[in-house]
Amino acid sequence: MTASDQVWWRQGTIYEVYPRSFQDSDGDGVGDLAGIEQRLDHLLHLGVDALWIAPFFPSPMADFGYDVADYCAVDPLFGTLEDFDRLLAAAHGRGLKVLTDFVLNHTSEAHPWFAESRTSRADPKRDWYIWRDPAPDGGPPNNWLSIFGGSAWRLDAPTGQYFLHSFLDCQPDLNWRNPEVEAAMFDVLRFWMDRGVDGFRLDALWMIAKDEQFRDNPADPNWHEGMIPYLVNTPVYSGDRPEALGICERMRALADSYPGDRVLIGETYLPIKRLVTYYGEHGDGLHLPFNFKLIQTPWDAAEIDAIIRRYDAALPGGAQPNWVLGNHDNPRTASRIGGLDAARAAAVLLLTLRGTPTLYYGEELGLADVEIPPGRERDPRAFTEPGLGRDPERAPMPWSADTNAGFTSGEPWLPLPPDWAIDNVAAQDVDPDSPLSLHRGLLALRRAEPALHAGRFTPLGVQGGAMGYLREADGERGFLVAINLSGAPARYEAPAADQGRIVLGTLRSREGEAISGTVALGPNEAVVVALNPSAAR
Ligand code: GLC
Repeated sequence: MTASDQVWWRQGTIYEVYPRSFQDSDGDGVGDLAGIEQRLDHLLHLGVDALWIAPFFPSPMADFGYDVADYCAVDPLFGTLEDFDRLLAAAHGRGLKVLTDFVLNHTSEAHPWFAESRTSRADPKRDWYIWRDPAPDGGPPNNWLSIFGGSAWRLDAPTGQYFLHSFLDCQPDLNWRNPEVEAAMFDVLRFWMDRGVDGFRLDALWMIAKDEQFRDNPADPNWHEGMIPYLVNTPVYSGDRPEALGICERMRALADSYPGDRVLIGETYLPIKRLVTYYGEHGDGLHLPFNFKLIQTPWDAAEIDAIIRRYDAALPGGAQPNWVLGNHDNPRTASRIGGLDAARAAAVLLLTLRGTPTLYYGEELGLADVEIPPGRERDPRAFTEPGLGRDPERAPMPWSADTNAGFTSGEPWLPLPPDWAIDNVAAQDVDPDSPLSLHRGLLALRRAEPALHAGRFTPLGVQGGAMGYLREADGERGFLVAINLSGAPARYEAPAADQGRIVLGTLRSREGEAISGTVALGPNEAVVVALNPSAAR
């Protein structure tokens, strides 16, 4: 193992906190920074290494903070800059890293930069955003669509031009081709790194560079009803342009100029062959372009096995893989892949694959999507694209059987998970069979074992509804992981692992069981087998 393998973001696990829903400290029903500080010991005990906190900056909250009006301050809803500094110090005091969200593709229309930009075509900040004349018929300049529905262009009548918004029409896209924008945004990175943050999750990173000629996106002949309307055209010109890489490289140089291994993690919803380019030609791009393939691939052994191999094969030399199972934009794992048992097996997969895992808050409890009664939807997407609202995966964290699950003394901003009174952190804490105990066990094992946090990965193939792989490191004990992704029993033969013992799995009752060559797996069962030294290849 080289020194660079030991860097925290290569070995560690990242935990996403959605601050509105984690812990409220002041009774307004919305989580806040002081609340996160109160719950740091949960993260410590869980065994993660870093928390990424979704936006808490001043914002009209049209997109719950992803519409930033000031990058260098804290929205009063979430507290103060002093609260942030206290949280950061408290996290660092526990050995936890803290990443903030950097919403770099767009601002809120309430940001002073945009307020200036829209005043006139001659304004010095006009070119900080993407303004275009109407098409000859007066309509939008081209066919680009907003990811949240409708045209990506909004006419601003006073100056007679359209501005680009890849998301909501109150989230104007910044013009990263303008060096003043880059300089101002890099100052934002400095502001937070100077305060001590350990890195950034770069929001909508894959969208930051657009085609200079504003060409129409081509129609996708494979689009069909049921796919999101945005994908009716293949978005080859409205995002993911080659210029993005230069920006990433310059951001990387800035991050690397600070001590302490600051990390850049990009939101990259892209096909594998495009997403891996964001590592940079010489490994000088992003540290971790998010890999969402586990979210996007059906929970089926053949499909998951294939996507893991494809990703592995596409990674440039030296690149650190990473895996994401859930986040604030996608249905909860238990709801997406068919229930809690499947979600437990998926946790084994996430935490034993080669690469940095990102865990979304509440997944350690096996939370499912929460049904939002009509009238209680809050996510703008629930209105612009009915059925695609993201509230169900953003419900407040159930901590205990106390009032409002210990989340707030007030009225929670979204409904609590329905069975919070019996299924919560406190209840799972004392239950050795709970999803929480499983996650703690997996994270502790991953941290303790070089084969798991830094070792090689060898896929062993699919057998029926199950898949398996080896994790090995020179001079260390190795592991066989066998996962049944189906609802029927399975047998997984792994001659390479002819002797070992189950150390952990979805069923505690099997811990300690000797394995020799074949593992019998119940429906949705997963096991981690520690191999006897003689069995390792
Ligand atoms: C990212 C965020 C999402 C947000 C969007 C627009 O995709 O994860 O929550 O709505 O960017 O900022």
